[in-house]
Amino acid sequence: MLRTHTCGELRKEDAGKIVTLCGWVDHQRDQGGLAFLWLRDRYGITQITFSQDAGNSPEEAEGLLQSARQLRQEFVVQVEGEVLRRPEGGENQTLATGEIEIRPLKLTLLNKSDVPPVQPGIPDLPSEDVRLQYRFLDLRRPDMQKALSLRHRMVKIMRDYTDEQGFLDVETPMLGRSTPEGARDYLVPSRVQPGKFYALPQSPQLYKQLLMIAGFDRYVQVARCFRDEDLRADRQPEFTQLDLEMSFVTMDDIIGMMEGLMARLAKEVLGMELSLPLPRMSYREAMERFGHDAPDLRFGMELVDLTDLAAQCEFRVFRGTADEGNRVRGIVAKGAAAEFSRKRIDEWTRWAQENFGVKGLAWFKGEEGTLHAPIAKNFEEAMLAQIRERLGMEDGDIAFIVADTFSTSCRALNGLRRRLGKELKLYDPKSFHFSWIVDFPMLEFDDEEQRWVAVHHPFTAPLPEDEPLLDTDPGKCRAAAYDIVINGFEAGGGSIRIHDNTLQQKIFRLLNIGDAMARERFGFLLDALRFGAPPHGGIALGLDRLAMIFAGLDSIRDVIAFPKTARATDLMTGAPGEVDDKQLRELKLELGR
Ligand code: AMO
Ligand code: AMP
Repeated sequence: MLRTHTCGELRKEDAGKIVTLCGWVDHQRDQGGLAFLWLRDRYGITQITFSQDAGNSPEEAEGLLQSARQLRQEFVVQVEGEVLRRPEGGENQTLATGEIEIRPLKLTLLNKSDVPPVQPGIPDLPSEDVRLQYRFLDLRRPDMQKALSLRHRMVKIMRDYTDEQGFLDVETPMLGRSTPEGARDYLVPSRVQPGKFYALPQSPQLYKQLLMIAGFDRYVQVARCFRDEDLRADRQPEFTQLDLEMSFVTMDDIIGMMEGLMARLAKEVLGMELSLPLPRMSYREAMERFGHDAPDLRFGMELVDLTDLAAQCEFRVFRGTADEGNRVRGIVAKGAAAEFSRKRIDEWTRWAQENFGVKGLAWFKGEEGTLHAPIAKNFEEAMLAQIRERLGMEDGDIAFIVADTFSTSCRALNGLRRRLGKELKLYDPKSFHFSWIVDFPMLEFDDEEQRWVAVHHPFTAPLPEDEPLLDTDPGKCRAAAYDIVINGFEAGGGSIRIHDNTLQQKIFRLLNIGDAMARERFGFLLDALRFGAPPHGGIALGLDRLAMIFAGLDSIRDVIAFPKTARATDLMTGAPGEVDDKQLRELKLELGR
């Protein structure tokens, strides 16, 4: 090794040792006859002090000081020297190695660096585009190194846990047939069969079901998934799942298995005792109380339904909405009335209109025992009193009210609730809340396509007691599906699968996938279901999301070594890129430019 220790390792007990360190020049300070160099590697930072005492003679000391002055940020150097205990009171509390410094005896330049566009030693960050273009420099930043080692530890715990529980790690193909998880596929053209395409997996869903049919009983994989969908802070076109599947289990078995894993992760990574079982909430309840199927339960601020009052009031907007069978619901920000000037309310109204498609945003402030707002004149005093009471408002509170369809009011009030929670600091951003959302509907009617679509995926089983509803009222049928939600993020989702060929075909038909199409696309599954498929189910955790949440970060890009931008480009390599005409000819592809 070119080094005896890392830059994060030495302590006061090491004083007197002659050591060799290697690393990058984090930064330097020159004070005339004295220069301090901070040497950085993955493990930390150690201070090298160039003074008259360096080397074995005053000449050597001078030579070392001169060489140190030639160094620039991100040069790679090797330093041999003596570990010195820093003088009492001279310790640096911000460094783990702050009790010591190195008196250099020899300095070797291992490599130079151009002026780095991302400076790992400086807290001020350039734009994310620059960080992504020079990701190799950005990844040198201690924050990024911390995030990736946290992710590593999480994967290690997941692997240990699943191994202890008898799960077998099996790899599944990247080049395969399309698995419908609801996004667009990334396609790969076949050269040997021109005109044909592989689809990159949106998840290993069908392969893991086939592994259950093959008798593997407990499968796990840290699986790469590819989805061509609109990207957000918590979505990437390629991402990683901890993907699991089990045979001969009920929903509670899978939930219990995951709770064991979550408790271990929480304990070992966050130092937090998770109390089990985790709370469960039905999808319906989550939508009514929070307007979202992955509610952030670190704070209250629940949605309040005013539809029945709206139906009796004179205000055209509320009354009309209630009469159309739609909903009037609101939320209250306690004590926040003074923080909402008319200008700010107007801004929030525009924001809600642009982001959630609401027609307007009504509001009331609690004042003088009643409700004040320009729209208050449309209400009788008694009605205002009833609304105030229903909302549980006191003087100084402000309520925001949305009158719209159920789904729009959910979207808007969830958005408002999250923004208010964050801006009014209604929860400790370092806290964690884990829960399950269960009893999802099996199907959802897609108005655009005029057909039923699967809420989870087409292989999810109905709750046994709801199965008859498939024939009478499919929209009411609940699925044996569950999502794990942490701090308002869907961290994972799974279900019990259909293991009966006839039921699977029935679901395909309901989804308007005709028998011929089902055969064409999923013939292998339908065949396999006819050869003794065991009851089975599973789940996939979004590993990137989990790492982001555990690291307390806002974007999954910060826990992925080489992520893509919102336009799905890799700014470092320039992917996606153009290809040669020769490659296209080989693939028998022509670009319709
Ligand atoms: P689902 O589609 O719910 O289920 O995905 C499981 C989890 O993967 C994460 N996730 C993503 N993370 C980052 N970027 C994305 N684009 C992205 N899409 C999803 C989420 C999500 O909860 N085969 C089923 C699982 C099963 O039924 O066992 C599936 O893929 O955290
Ligand atoms: P209008 O009569 O359309 O000017 O609306 C009067 C007030 O009601 C304005 O403050 C609007 O922002 C609000 N408003 C309009 N439509 C809605 C709606 N669908 N939900 C809640 N508030 C609304």
